[in-house]
Amino acid sequence: MTTTPDFRFRRLRRTKVLRQLVRENHLRPEDFILPIFVEEGIQEPVEIASMPGVKRFPETQLGGELRRLWQLGVKAVILFGVSQHKDDCGSDTWNDKGLMARCIRTAKAATPDMLIISDNCFCEYTDHGHCGVVHDNDVDNDSTLENLQAQVITAARAGVDMIAPSGMMDGMIAAIREALDSEGYTHIPIMSYSTKFASAFYGPFRDAVDSNFKGTRNTYQMDPANGREALAESLQDEGEGADILMVKPGMAYLDVIREIRDGSNQPLAVYHVSGEYAMIKAAAAAGVIDEKSIVLESMIAFKRAGCDLILTYYAEDIINWLKEE
Ligand code: PBG
Repeated sequence: MTTTPDFRFRRLRRTKVLRQLVRENHLRPEDFILPIFVEEGIQEPVEIASMPGVKRFPETQLGGELRRLWQLGVKAVILFGVSQHKDDCGSDTWNDKGLMARCIRTAKAATPDMLIISDNCFCEYTDHGHCGVVHDNDVDNDSTLENLQAQVITAARAGVDMIAPSGMMDGMIAAIREALDSEGYTHIPIMSYSTKFASAFYGPFRDAVDSNFKGTRNTYQMDPANGREALAESLQDEGEGADILMVKPGMAYLDVIREIRDGSNQPLAVYHVSGEYAMIKAAAAAGVIDEKSIVLESMIAFKRAGCDLILTYYAEDIINWLKEE
């Protein structure tokens, strides 16, 4: 004798159109933010060995690259500078003629409608590679905040559309908001790297920014073991005025995304970081996975977990793949 089930989930899986009709989450081109690396002093793009397909661009090619991306449908980029003017505090970041300010101006001139975000940190601009001023072998929180205020005002003067502080200093959002508002930049939103873990998944990024950083960031970035603190970090930034929250890295932290989604009404971003990118690239190159399927499945997992926005080195590929669907 056979028993027949009353309810059959398979009824809505029978055809492609039915499956599309009942799909709960979707990827749209405007969900994606592409990180861009710009290196001072180079004449031609340089391939990043640990991140196949990702390049560091010379400043002279930034405008052209952004125009190409805008034509393809990339709506937003986040700029990272690779500085040749490093010092112990990262002072080039608050120089109106420094690399960060120049890149923002070049980007806004080339593609005025594209959303230009600056990664606001110091690690690409300090000779020791830490994300702030070092006192007694540790990053000094409060003097780093003062420098960060100078940096974001410089970025605002250069025309940036959104500020994205990634240094994990306590009080950074309040300090940035106060600085921007006092200079009349009340309209510039802050996307905080609000819950950022001290992660081995950033390994290839260090190669990308040519950092000679040898230590750890364990005294300012979060312990990957901590879930309650992960929510508290993002809620703290929301309370200080962050407009968009972020979890970083992505795939290993889907539970954290869900917690923050349920605990906050702010838009939520995730950073699919360099190590996640490099792992997929390596597996694809070895012929053991299908790259496009793996990437799209990873992205929809971020959406299902509760993310609105995704920063990923795959943004251009994804936008092209979505056109094929
Ligand atoms: C700098 C910064 C890092 C990343 C983004 N901004 C590196 C770090 O914190 O060590 C990582 C990006 C990636 O791995 O793709 N504060």
